[in-house]
Amino acid sequence: MSVLPADPHLPVAHLRPPRNWINDPNGLAFHDGHYHVCFQYNPYGSEHAHMHWGHFRSPDLLTWEELPLALTPTPGGEDADGCFSGNAVSDGDRMVAFYSAFRTDRWAQPVTTAESRDNGVTWTPRGSLLIPELPEGATMYRDPYVWREGGGWRMLVGSALADGRAAALLYESADLEQWEYKGPFLDGAPQPVAPGADTGLGWECPQYLHADGRGALLLSVWDPELGPRRTVVYAGREHDGRFLAGAPALLDHGPDLYAPALLPAPDGRWLLWGWSWEARDPQWVREAGWAGLLTLPREVTLAEDGSVRQRPAAELLALRGERTVTSAGVTAGTAVLGTVGASFDLTARLERAGGLRLVTSADGAEYLDIRVDPTAGELVVDRDHASLDPRAQGGTYRVPCPEASVELRLVVDRSVAELYLPSGRTLTLRFYPTGGAPWRIEARAGDEGGLGYTVSAWNLRPHTVRCLADAAAGLTDAGLVGP
Ligand code: FRU
Repeated sequence: MSVLPADPHLPVAHLRPPRNWINDPNGLAFHDGHYHVCFQYNPYGSEHAHMHWGHFRSPDLLTWEELPLALTPTPGGEDADGCFSGNAVSDGDRMVAFYSAFRTDRWAQPVTTAESRDNGVTWTPRGSLLIPELPEGATMYRDPYVWREGGGWRMLVGSALADGRAAALLYESADLEQWEYKGPFLDGAPQPVAPGADTGLGWECPQYLHADGRGALLLSVWDPELGPRRTVVYAGREHDGRFLAGAPALLDHGPDLYAPALLPAPDGRWLLWGWSWEARDPQWVREAGWAGLLTLPREVTLAEDGSVRQRPAAELLALRGERTVTSAGVTAGTAVLGTVGASFDLTARLERAGGLRLVTSADGAEYLDIRVDPTAGELVVDRDHASLDPRAQGGTYRVPCPEASVELRLVVDRSVAELYLPSGRTLTLRFYPTGGAPWRIEARAGDEGGLGYTVSAWNLRPHTVRCLADAAAGLTDAGLVGP
């Protein structure tokens, strides 16, 4: 039995459970022939509280199983008030999860572990802290990221330091049990990264992509007063246990991506999922009964010039269903190119000037715009009119795009839009159309002249999610969504 979600904003091709709050992807690991994707999850409601680790796994990034909750806070234990973020590693026949033990009665979230010997179906928490001592000068401390290197293991922990530097702290271990603190792998006072945006006072969820002596640190910028801000990346190389970094850059140019996490795939790819939070009023979130989603899995590469490039995982092409738009031409005004469902994958080439409009209400009053700004050499995504509901956030967001002919891929899934450029730049944004699909795709010329366009769009097939527990109990396929 397949049930399409009744909530028009609930995604069908992005991972999340049908209800309740989620945030960061956690515990990403390939083990026993499966990609394991856990996530911060509140099984009791749509607000950030009672953090558990929810758990999906997939053999192919297309068919997902929902596994039982991986981590649950232990009453009275070190993680009594939440199992916060971290990652997992595959170590022979076991998986080990490293996570931040949250208690409201202490400022830090020290590292603890849990282990699974049945391929991630059940987990045994260690109960005690793995690293009880906290480094001097830290004022924030959480989110371990562990990887295998040479014959041993290394770990980064996100931190803020009392003197105003943010830091990713390095530890090393031969056996995953005894960990030696090595000092900051990278630290730094806030540095500008874009107009009005810097690298911040604290780094959460450090992630380390590395290959052939080069690397990139992905960091989630956290402010002691404002909380999560943005994600940044430093490319560089390691020297003597320190990361020598070039200039920082934004990892994503949209407003709604945070806490991205890496999964080293067995074929050598680095895969990434991020948390895309809500961009609507909390009252609306309560009514909806859910918050947050995980981005599409992305392939991340480190280019020769030090830029970090993202594109949707190649497997996702298999989610393309009916092709509903195939259109090429030149317009001096507005050309209607066709219609799409509420979840679609679109590719476009635009010869300046103008842009695309996704019209989501019959009267044309509700739309998401993607426009070329030839003077600035940027692509502008404008969600000021993307919802007729005033409880949705607006704003315009810009991603550098200096090329004369603009190519883009846009994946929309009900309330999330992920924009990918050939440069590897991305822009992730939430929007909340009130009009039902089919929606209309238009090409619109700009004031500067005509627009040449080539556009294709495919409706997305929902990915399949099954619940392992129900399947094992012989119940009908408890697909949350289905083809
Ligand atoms: C990032 C974060 C992490 C923390 C978790 C708690 O979004 O704040 O630093 O471990 O979420 O849910």
